[in-house]
Amino acid sequence: MKNIVLIGPSGVGKTTIGKYISSKLKIEQVDTDFIIEKKFSMSIENIFKKYGENWFRIEESNIVKEVSNKNNIVISTGGGVVINEKNIENLKSTGILFMLVGSIDTLTRNLMNSNKKRPLIGNYGYDEIYKNVKNMFFEREKLYIKSADYLISVDNRTIEEIGEEIISFY
Ligand code: S3P
Repeated sequence: MKNIVLIGPSGVGKTTIGKYISSKLKIEQVDTDFIIEKKFSMSIENIFKKYGENWFRIEESNIVKEVSNKNNIVISTGGGVVINEKNIENLKSTGILFMLVGSIDTLTRNLMNSNKKRPLIGNYGYDEIYKNVKNMFFEREKLYIKSADYLISVDNRTIEEIGEEIISFY
């Protein structure tokens, strides 16, 4: 079976929804950011601080290539995975790409409740996060849409509703 690949901006729920699908279908979930954090025993935030974004992107591409060799898994990606066309090519070779779509307000609120630090977004309260998320989303919107096989709305829906919709396409 093809992989279920979740793409979309930070705070849209790629990790959480991936977990739901994985437990419901009893298939493995991989999260590209978690794999990088484990590999270097360091948080994404510290990796950015110590090695910089370019280095992170190279590692991210390596991990994407590795997990794209698998089948029948759920892949939760980092929000920047679409920047590199080769990543999308690799992910598409074995997977169906679902873009999770949410309002900037939803993303901001989810990020405010998240423990994971996003070095490119910061955490200085609602207004700052909203502004950064919005700018980043508009920069990448076309890439997400171009890459996605399906768009899945997350606004005002439960994790179960979103997960079940994805499973129904699969
Ligand atoms: C990034 C998103 C993050 C993480 C890194 C870079 C981005 O993942 O990969 O901080 O460029 O959008 P999330 O999508 O889980 O926030």
